[in-house]
Amino acid sequence: MRRLVAETRLSVDDLVAPLFVREGVDEPVPVSSLPGVVQHTRSSLVEEVRQLVDLGVPAVILFGVPDHKDAVGSAASDPEGIVQVAIRDLRDRFGDEVVVVADLCLDEYTDHGHCGLLTTDGRVDNDATLERYAEVAVAQARAGVDVCAPSGMMDGQVRAIRGALDSAGGEDVAVLAYSAKYASALYGPFREAVDVEIADGGDRRSYQQDWANVRESMEELRLDVAEGADMLMVKPALTYLDVLSRARAEFDLPLAAYHVSGEYAMVHAAAERGWIDGDAVALEQITAVVRAGADLVLTYFARSLAERLQ
Ligand code: PBG
Repeated sequence: MRRLVAETRLSVDDLVAPLFVREGVDEPVPVSSLPGVVQHTRSSLVEEVRQLVDLGVPAVILFGVPDHKDAVGSAASDPEGIVQVAIRDLRDRFGDEVVVVADLCLDEYTDHGHCGLLTTDGRVDNDATLERYAEVAVAQARAGVDVCAPSGMMDGQVRAIRGALDSAGGEDVAVLAYSAKYASALYGPFREAVDVEIADGGDRRSYQQDWANVRESMEELRLDVAEGADMLMVKPALTYLDVLSRARAEFDLPLAAYHVSGEYAMVHAAAERGWIDGDAVALEQITAVVRAGADLVLTYFARSLAERLQ
């Protein structure tokens, strides 16, 4: 009877697996703050995606960990940069079997760890950053990406990326906008996964959302729709179910939620201590995210959920 009347059904079709690929390593490198997550080599990435595809996971989102970081994040748009070669590897191997999404940002590639370029006095330069995002989008498109996912929260980033894609033969590349991305304390483990430390103990509050606000997020979502986003995202997930639910009510575009590194790490840490049943909590949490309105969920639990949802 419970099955018959269930209102929400989590399916493997809803899952997007975040994957890290690191330049210049021969073996996968475990991320200590994210049990079960590694920085992949090019070949271990291909193997991991093979297994995810076989489990029915429809999409992956790639994050690069480059060897070389500099002030402008050059490696992010280098045709031979780690994410571009990884996209080509996956495209060659899997064709249309998997949707390849690439996170589009500079923080993994800049030596100061900010998501954008800095002015001489150390502030993030929104408009100069847009030109770099456009170059990154074109590099990802030429490598064969299906979806660019700008995560830097710069004003006007969706319009800049859409325009660059359209004028460089990337008309078919979709834009998944991290529209309502909060300046959350839950990204800690991710920063270890991508070796990012923000210079001078800085933070991202000048460009990410204040966690006190929801109307402001609705405005950010509206702007991204107007700028040409194909899909919208709320991030993190659980702390912002109200934002997701309001977004669901207002927008008909596909809606994504990112269950982030800190959310995953907390479940693991408590489960390790025997305080909670980690598998049950993971299923409960991700189902709640879908119940609140997400069509797709980016989650480090993608693989283990896919195994259990068979
Ligand atoms: C920025 C980016 C971040 C995450 C995804 N893209 C980190 C940040 O904004 O500091 C976080 C993902 C997670 O915590 O799982 N490129």
